[in-house]
Amino acid sequence: MVNLIIKAFKRYAWFKRINAKITYEILAKYIPAEEWRFMNYGYVPTEAEPPLALPDDPTLQKYPLQMYHYLATQVDLRGKTVLEVGSGRGGGAHYIATHLQPASYTGLDLAQRAVDLANRLYQSANLRFIQGSAEKIPLPDNSIDVVINVESCHAYGSVPAFLGEVTRVLKPGGYFLMVDFRNEVKNMDVLHAELRATELTWLKHENISERVIMAIEAENDSKVARIEKLVPPRWHTLFGDFAGVVGSRFYNTLKDGTRVYHRFVLRKG
Ligand SMILES: C[S@@+](CC[C@H](N)C(=O)[O-])C[C@H]1O[C@@H](n2cnc3c(N)ncnc32)[C@H](O)[C@@H]1O
Repeated sequence: MVNLIIKAFKRYAWFKRINAKITYEILAKYIPAEEWRFMNYGYVPTEAEPPLALPDDPTLQKYPLQMYHYLATQVDLRGKTVLEVGSGRGGGAHYIATHLQPASYTGLDLAQRAVDLANRLYQSANLRFIQGSAEKIPLPDNSIDVVINVESCHAYGSVPAFLGEVTRVLKPGGYFLMVDFRNEVKNMDVLHAELRATELTWLKHENISERVIMAIEAENDSKVARIEKLVPPRWHTLFGDFAGVVGSRFYNTLKDGTRVYHRFVLRKG
């Protein structure tokens, strides 16, 4: 019932904005655990992608980290000014800032508590987290080499407003790297049309749904263990759905093809 009401209201931009803000403020407030660093569903690389050597540590959140790694390495970030929109708890930002050598990395998020948490957990000279909206990015025109966006824009009130802001802050020749899902194929078609309506050049696009399903399955045991450890028992089912455990609505609809997950590389000019 609650799900149906939320689904009905999600067609309104104002509701999507309030829903995202409240959800992520609450999560950062009540679960400030360092071991929960990422909030994306994860990625298993293809055989064609260079393997990433990671320690065999179940607390690492290897698959969500790989989502960042294989998106961010679509371009060379060394010496670049990078903005991440929707940086969440900051794990991806911290990984990229410390391993892929950007000159500077700014993580922007709507949720003030998520920003505060990320600033507390991660301190590097080239890394900072600031509060703000994807639809009104608090940065100057033509100031960013690469914008990164991981599993966040499905929550925005207006994706065209966000894409206008990405285009504005990017320097000419700058890149926009994005991964996200849509709950129905027709809504992914809308996202494609929104991207094609910008002045960004479309360089690469992949349907990575299969790779996300593989990640969800591979990470399931450690994800369930993390939920059991960090979340009060009465919230386990709701949170399992949100986190996309095997058997959740998110997992089932991705598996049956109703929901789709895509990766994009675009360039300004
Ligand atoms: C599913 S989480 C993904 C977080 C992070 N990218 C990751 O993969 O761990 C989505 C994030 O987008 C942020 N978000 C939602 N709407 C936003 C907006 N309008 N502007 C900036 N951030 C937003 C949320 O606060 C949340 O942290």
